[in-house]
Amino acid sequence: MSDDHSATATARSAFRERFGERPTVVASAPGRVNLVGGHVDYSGGIVLPVAIDRRTVVAVRPRADGRIRAYSTRMDETVTSTIDEVPAGWSAYVVGTAAMVAEAADFETTVGADLVVGGDMLVGAGLSSSASLEVAAAGALNEVHDLGLDDEELATACWRAERGAVGVDCGIMDQYVSALAKSEHALRLDCRSRSYEHVPFDTSAMGLLVVETNVSHELAASGYNDRVRECEAAVAQLADELGRPIRSLRDVQRRDLDVVESALDAPFDRRVRHVVTEMERVETAARALSTDEYQRVGTAISASHRSLREDYEVSCAELDTVVDACHDCPGVYGARMVGGGWGGSVVALVEPGCVDAVTATIESRYRTVTGADCDVHRVGVSGGLRVEE
Ligand code: GLA
Repeated sequence: MSDDHSATATARSAFRERFGERPTVVASAPGRVNLVGGHVDYSGGIVLPVAIDRRTVVAVRPRADGRIRAYSTRMDETVTSTIDEVPAGWSAYVVGTAAMVAEAADFETTVGADLVVGGDMLVGAGLSSSASLEVAAAGALNEVHDLGLDDEELATACWRAERGAVGVDCGIMDQYVSALAKSEHALRLDCRSRSYEHVPFDTSAMGLLVVETNVSHELAASGYNDRVRECEAAVAQLADELGRPIRSLRDVQRRDLDVVESALDAPFDRRVRHVVTEMERVETAARALSTDEYQRVGTAISASHRSLREDYEVSCAELDTVVDACHDCPGVYGARMVGGGWGGSVVALVEPGCVDAVTATIESRYRTVTGADCDVHRVGVSGGLRVEE
């Protein structure tokens, strides 16, 4: 698991080395794994993510000239820009976030700053490193410029930055959990009303493993947007078929599935079935989590993976290899892919005493089947945005 304190100290000292002064504020925000509720956020559904104890740290001093100068310890690169010219690459998340935060605050001048981006976040693994960067940067800029935005307003600004920076029509889940999570709790988030509650998650009773497949397939961005469009098309057609207003797939229920199956062509019927059944699994898992019924949580997680693989078709061979290996291990409650799909990571819920044996089995099975290595991490459940002077 990660050492939060040392990640913050490293970012502070990198700031002094790079910019010759101490930062005014250091903010950090976590990545996430979603336990259940895959690909339902943009349909207004309910999700159940947890923030992991891997964080992006952003150290900041304000600048009066409105410029943004950002240095990444990981990339060892400095980019200078203004919010009117969002650059390409990692700094797009910083500059794009600054632009959206300024807009949300209706700020009359600009949100110029020197920033150092560091931390121990696992990048490019489907764990929302981009959301953690956006939320940490937004929290730091909000503080140094005294903008007065609350965590929900920051999360919304970050979500808008993400959509602008990468051109993916993503939902609000990643930025919300990164901003609002509570340590040792999952976040049950209603992506339509944006109301949320914290559900206890006891990591001493349930170990959380993240398995990075180290692959990313080309479909990751275009395939995601295709699924968003398929859901929109299904909504348009179902509004006629069901004879009642349907704003998004959130409004479709299990009792509608017969109509869905007879009215919609493949694969639209399967896409809807995934969303409807997935929203049920979120409710089951959230209830089971609050009553410490770990096996029921795990069953919902594994059923979620099957549905994402068969009905939503966003998995890939490498993710399925890890999930299958998990299912063959004693002590695994459940496992599923996380994030958009076609690569990235798997989350597994494991009896704490079995973590080492499960890790060894996954590593060796993955090597045998794919010829490559995966990386297995035991992670803790962290809180959301933190801002320190
Ligand atoms: C990505 C998106 C999220 C969500 C997940 C799938 O992480 O950024 O909004 O849609 O995929 O659940």
